[in-house]
Amino acid sequence: MAGMGLPVVFVAVTLLLSWDTGSTVNPCCSFPCQHRGVCVRFEMDTYECDCTRTGYSGTNCTIAELWTKIREFLHPSPGFSHYILTRFKWFWDIINATFIRDSIVKLVLTVRSNLIPSPPTYNSAYGYISWEAYCNVSYYTRVLPPVPEDCPTPMGTKGKKQLPDANLIAEAFLMRETFIPDPQGSNLLFAFFAQHFTHQFFKTYGRMGRGFTSGYGHGVDLSHIYGDNLERQHKLRLFKDGKMKYQIIKGDMYPPTVLEAPVNMTYPDNIPMEKRLAVGQEVFGLLPGLMMYATIWLREHNRVCDVLKKEHPTWDDEQLFQTTRLVLIGETIKIVIEDYVQHLSGYYLKLKFDPELLFGVQFQYRNRIAVEFNQLYHWHSLMPDKFNIMEHEYSYSNFVYNTSVLLDHGVEALVESFSKQIAGKIGGGKNIHPRLIKVAVGVIEESRKLRLQSFNEYKKRFGMKPYKSFQDLTGEVNTASQLELMYGDIDALEFYPGLMLEKPQPNSMFGESMTEIGAPFSLKGLMGNPICSPEYWKPSTFGGNIGFNIVKTASIQKLVCRNLKRCPYVAFRVPDTDSKDITSPGKEAPDEL
Ligand code: HEM
Ligand SMILES: *[C@@H]1O[C@H](CO)[C@@H](O)[C@H](O)[C@H]1NC(C)=O
Ligand SMILES: *[C@@H]1O[C@H](CO)[C@@H](O)[C@H](O)[C@H]1NC(C)=O
Ligand SMILES: *[C@@H]1O[C@H](CO)[C@@H](O)[C@H](O)[C@H]1NC(C)=O
Ligand SMILES: *[C@@H]1O[C@H](CO)[C@@H](O)[C@H](O)[C@H]1NC(C)=O
Ligand SMILES: *[C@@H]1O[C@H](CO)[C@@H](O)[C@H](O)[C@H]1NC(C)=O
Repeated sequence: MAGMGLPVVFVAVTLLLSWDTGSTVNPCCSFPCQHRGVCVRFEMDTYECDCTRTGYSGTNCTIAELWTKIREFLHPSPGFSHYILTRFKWFWDIINATFIRDSIVKLVLTVRSNLIPSPPTYNSAYGYISWEAYCNVSYYTRVLPPVPEDCPTPMGTKGKKQLPDANLIAEAFLMRETFIPDPQGSNLLFAFFAQHFTHQFFKTYGRMGRGFTSGYGHGVDLSHIYGDNLERQHKLRLFKDGKMKYQIIKGDMYPPTVLEAPVNMTYPDNIPMEKRLAVGQEVFGLLPGLMMYATIWLREHNRVCDVLKKEHPTWDDEQLFQTTRLVLIGETIKIVIEDYVQHLSGYYLKLKFDPELLFGVQFQYRNRIAVEFNQLYHWHSLMPDKFNIMEHEYSYSNFVYNTSVLLDHGVEALVESFSKQIAGKIGGGKNIHPRLIKVAVGVIEESRKLRLQSFNEYKKRFGMKPYKSFQDLTGEVNTASQLELMYGDIDALEFYPGLMLEKPQPNSMFGESMTEIGAPFSLKGLMGNPICSPEYWKPSTFGGNIGFNIVKTASIQKLVCRNLKRCPYVAFRVPDTDSKDITSPGKEAPDEL
């Protein structure tokens, strides 16, 4: 698989391409370099494609080397792999039980991760490799550089000079008319997990602010629990036995109020201080679903502290805190891979979180969050029309910033209700609640400010074939012809609308590209965590075998049930209609714990 062939750089002199006034067009605007070749402008109207280690040569990196031909012949297309992985349960049931499972999981992890440059390359201010882009972690990184500033159209050379109004796109194609449930059966427990988990690394700094982040951890650092700086962390800590501050209400543990832990939290003015709960992430007061997860993780932290303290009575507060944090990071990654991504992928292959799978291969234990990953994860269509909790129904106005919902009902009732309520389908269009449509408009507008390349350029970058027409994209004619009118050219379609409007795969929550582009970012972010590296991944890091085992056996079910008095149905999908599933996981749990 190693890159071979001499780095050959060809110079292409494009004919003097004159634009209206006679000024020259930047030849890189047409993205001539294929197969991840790098376009460099020379003089006024000349470019070179740097095809080094792409496996291709020629002016535009289009001539495949022999090894590339062989590899491409053997390499299954993304569509084919997905087809196999989501069918033939009997086959995967056999594979699950054998060593072949390890080999396939390892292949999935390496093939996916290899699509993400590491160390990172570009950012929204630097479309070429630079030290500033490398070292300034205030930027989100970029997999594809921005469209050059001096191009004839916003998407380079394709499409119209002006993109269609973002409000128009959102209202015509993305806004919900009637609720479309997720065919994979995802529930609100899944939806709020997605939001809670990702908001530790998606923390855009300043509205529309040129691709900056206030999350310097760039991955699973649990800053949503502990805060993203030392000052905030110290305000949230109890400084006793490693624990976090908390309050007890009706006999149960909850996050402290901002009076007890004076950190900045975003709440509307009418919420009194004694009702404002303080947690790592500033915005988690927004939704009871987020504060529910914050409460569960807070309880888990303090529970693990007790476990470790019993094992290590000599350890001081600091060591108990730090070690517990690593245990929780491990638990998070385990749950995300084996419960969350397992559900999301729809794969019958049983995924496995085992860092040792990557010890034999080249892999960089580092990660940088990308703008594209952030754009892609705007899954607001998951949100329902109303939120059902026990026999109550909450509209958005009753639910958003309502701090009483969690405290009145308690974590058990919320877990149970969210597990039973189905979430919305993410892809396929027309499923974002009108209350949230402004967020989608914001995503599109931001992508323009940041000059994101077209959807088709991203398809190519992540190993897929670009779409030839809008019909090819949506799999129907109506939306396709409207889109064609607005954009003019399939090669001018934008990234986020493309992801959302691509035809979903059969019985799936979104189309091929969401998986093919999202999975590499996700798996690289999870496995690139330092705890997965050989020096860290050993019992001593986690306080000995007890802590290591908490990590290696974590599940969403245990996380929830170890921290509740009663164990309800816990899963990322709604229970099967044949009632067997409704009770079984819950009933088994207590004995097993
Ligand atoms: C009722 C539920 C929700 C509300 C009211 C809401 C609202 C918002 C708002 C106001 C923003 C900021 C937009 C901006 O700055 O322009 C945002 C950002 C975001 N939301 Fe949601 N959202 C909800 C649910 C979700 C869910 C379920 C997800 C699933 C993953 C999600 C993912 C995101 C992401 C990734 C961002 C970008 C965050 C950042 O870059 O800082 N949201 N949301
Ligand atoms: C390289 O790409 C440019 C721009 O797309 C095109 O005009 C040119 O014909 C291509 N050259 C070769 C050798 O394929
Ligand atoms: C294999 O894994 C899949 C996905 O988790 C599951 O549906 C299937 O039942 C598993 N089979 C065995 C034998 O564990
Ligand atoms: C990162 O870049 C921004 C924009 O140039 C600058 O304001 C900021 O100070 C830089 N951060 C660091 C740590 O250098
Ligand atoms: C809290 O937010 C306010 C207003 O945004 C700001 O002035 C203040 O510096 C922040 N405090 C901390 C500790 O971040
Ligand atoms: C908040 O939720 C409580 C139930 O916990 C409900 O009684 C109250 O009306 C809600 N507040 C608003 C403003 O809707």
